Amino acid sequence: KKIVTDLDVAGKKVLVRADFNVPMKDGEITNDDRIVQALPTIKHLIEEGAKVILFSHLGRVKVEEDKAGKSLQPVADRLAKLLAKDVQFVPETRGEKLENAIDALENGQVLMFENTRFEDIDGSKESKNDPELGKYWASLGDLFVNDAFGTAHRAHASNVGIASNIESAAGFLMEKEIKFIGNSVDQPVRPFVAILGGAKVSDKIGVIENLLEKADKVIIGGGMAFTFFKAQGKEIGSSLLEADKVDLAKDLLARADGKIVLPIDSVVNTEFANEGDVKVVPVDEHPDGYMGLDIGPETIKLYEEELKGAKTVVWNGPMGVFEMANFAKGTVGVCEAIANLSDATTIIGGGDSAAAAMQLGFAEKFSHISTGGGASLEYLEGKELPGLAAISNK
Ligand code: 3PG
Repeated sequence: KKIVTDLDVAGKKVLVRADFNVPMKDGEITNDDRIVQALPTIKHLIEEGAKVILFSHLGRVKVEEDKAGKSLQPVADRLAKLLAKDVQFVPETRGEKLENAIDALENGQVLMFENTRFEDIDGSKESKNDPELGKYWASLGDLFVNDAFGTAHRAHASNVGIASNIESAAGFLMEKEIKFIGNSVDQPVRPFVAILGGAKVSDKIGVIENLLEKADKVIIGGGMAFTFFKAQGKEIGSSLLEADKVDLAKDLLARADGKIVLPIDSVVNTEFANEGDVKVVPVDEHPDGYMGLDIGPETIKLYEEELKGAKTVVWNGPMGVFEMANFAKGTVGVCEAIANLSDATTIIGGGDSAAAAMQLGFAEKFSHISTGGGASLEYLEGKELPGLAAISNK
């Protein structure tokens, strides 16, 4: 694939698709990591004297009312602060005003246009990759840089559509994500240990199947462990169960050849709440009427042992209901254990686990924290990402 340094961008109008789909609360950005991670590409283009035209989606927009609170204006403001430079915001996704503003750009100047999903209101043009829309956006620039790894699992007009009309290249963030996640799965330095958590087996089937082939160990935690316990014939009380996935879990365990590591104790409670009758039980003695909400202390120790000596670690998904203080220890423990590995490439595959690591202040200790949630999951499943596939080849 071409990368941004393969393009001659000086004096050119360069369209840049970023993933600025950042979490917002009451009009304020609560985590600007995705903006920060996009800076290297933007700075490079500014330094090279390109006319930089940025855009992204933000949230999901289906009807006019959905637009409220989903303007990219706060993102443009935050970016201007981070760059210490003017970022001209145009609250349009097409039309004369936008076209004139782009024509008036000077080399090294930056413009951002409005949320690409505002084009979804009338017929999902952005999300259904309407060919006219991709062509129109492509006509606004000379070159296209796609740095939106977080959106690479979508085939939308603002990534795939534009790339099919003009010369394109991957930005530095896209390149970094592919290098870390791609290499860890395809050419891992061994031992390669994957830690997978989260509530549902059904969300992680593809990842477990792919990583069972590629990793040396697949450690499982979170709500989905209970479907595996059921598959082993254990009692699980009122824990989360995906009854229709028990056979699949049996099959995965049979195929795993000892590679799957499951919890040995659980923190249980009488209800799905922080308070109640919280206690630690071995997984073989799960009491009736209790649900498992976190991995227990012996399991944390076991997982620390399993991680020792690992040279590549990929983590995706929390070990318990970490939003509740009584059930956060498993996720914190695993996060800490991975963060403390001194001689390993450690990667967090986005989403909840990335948020947890950042909140806990461990972010700096990981080799890479992906900016993609859905995108990194699909990448870990070994699927082709359409946003990436559409980028011009060298
Ligand atoms: C994400 O946050 O996972 C990406 O920005 C994609 O958003 P979407 O799931 O709304 O397409």
